[in-house]
Amino acid sequence: MQLLNGNEVSKHIRTQIKAEVEQLKAAGKKTPHLAAILVGTDGASQTYVAAKAKDCEEVGFDSTVLRFDATISEADLLNEVIKINNNPDIDGLIVQLPLPKHIDTNKVTQTIDWRKDVDGFHPMNVGLMFKGLPCYLPATPMGVIKLLEHYQIETTGKHCVVIGRSDIVGKPMSALMLQKNCTVTVCHSKTQDIENVIKGADIVIAALGIPNFVTAKMVKQGAVVVDVGITRVEDPTAKSGYRLKGDVKFDEVSEKASWITPVPGGVGPMTRVGLLLNTLNAVKNHLRFESR
Ligand code: GUN
Repeated sequence: MQLLNGNEVSKHIRTQIKAEVEQLKAAGKKTPHLAAILVGTDGASQTYVAAKAKDCEEVGFDSTVLRFDATISEADLLNEVIKINNNPDIDGLIVQLPLPKHIDTNKVTQTIDWRKDVDGFHPMNVGLMFKGLPCYLPATPMGVIKLLEHYQIETTGKHCVVIGRSDIVGKPMSALMLQKNCTVTVCHSKTQDIENVIKGADIVIAALGIPNFVTAKMVKQGAVVVDVGITRVEDPTAKSGYRLKGDVKFDEVSEKASWITPVPGGVGPMTRVGLLLNTLNAVKNHLRFESR
C-alpha cells in the first residue's frame, strides 16, 4: 500500500501559488482577494473559515471574513452578496455552508456572481463543468483529481465507484471521473447491495460522511481508495475534544488497497488548496477581462 499524501502534494502546490502571487505583485498587478461569508456560530464552519483565511495569508492573498448573526434575513444576506459582487477589489466569494434553515441556499449560491464563485456551486459553473469547459471546479473534487494526477493513477477504462451524491462532492466527482475516462457508478443511501457494487471498483471514492463505512471486505484487492469523509467524532483525549474520522476503515482497508488517502492529511489539505487555485484563477481572469 502507498499513501496518497495530500499534505505533501498540497504543500508543493502552495509553494507554486505563492511564487505566482509574488510575480503578480512584482508586476504591479492586483493581490488576489477572497471574501468569506459566515452566518451563525457553527463550530466546524468557524474552523473551516478561519483555516481558509489563514491559507490566504500564507500564500500572500488578501482575505475578508464577513460574519453575520444566524438571525440575518435572507434578503439582507442576498444584499451582502450583491455588495461583494459589485466590489471590484474582491475576486472570489464563498458563503460557508450550511446556512440557517430560514435561508434558501440555492438562492444564495445563484446570487453570487458566477465569475467570483470560487466554490464552483453556481449553476453556470456546474453546467460548464459537466460540459468539460473552463470554469471554477468545486474544491474537493478538484483536489481529488489533482491528487490522483500527481501520483499518476491510471483512470482510463477503470471502474470508479463514488459513494455519496451530494452537490458539493459526489455529483461533481462523478462528472470529473467520467472526464478522466472512468466507467463511473454513483452509490447512495438507496443503492441495493452496495457492498457488491463497491467491490467491483478499481477506484473507490467515499464521500458519504459515515465514519468507517467502507471496510476491507467491500474493497477489491489492489483498489485505489480515496476517503473524502471528515466527520468530527467526540474524543475527550484530543486537545480539541474531537477527532476527524474518515468514511474508510483505514487500518484494514489499507491492507488491501494499492493506494489510499489518510484522514487527516489526504483529501482535506487538497480541498484547501483547491480554493486557493480558484481564487488565483479569479484574478487571472479578472486581469484578462481588464486587458481586453
Ligand atoms: N461547507 C462544507 N464544505 C463547503 C465548501 O466547500 N464550501 C462552502 N462554502 N461551504 C462548505
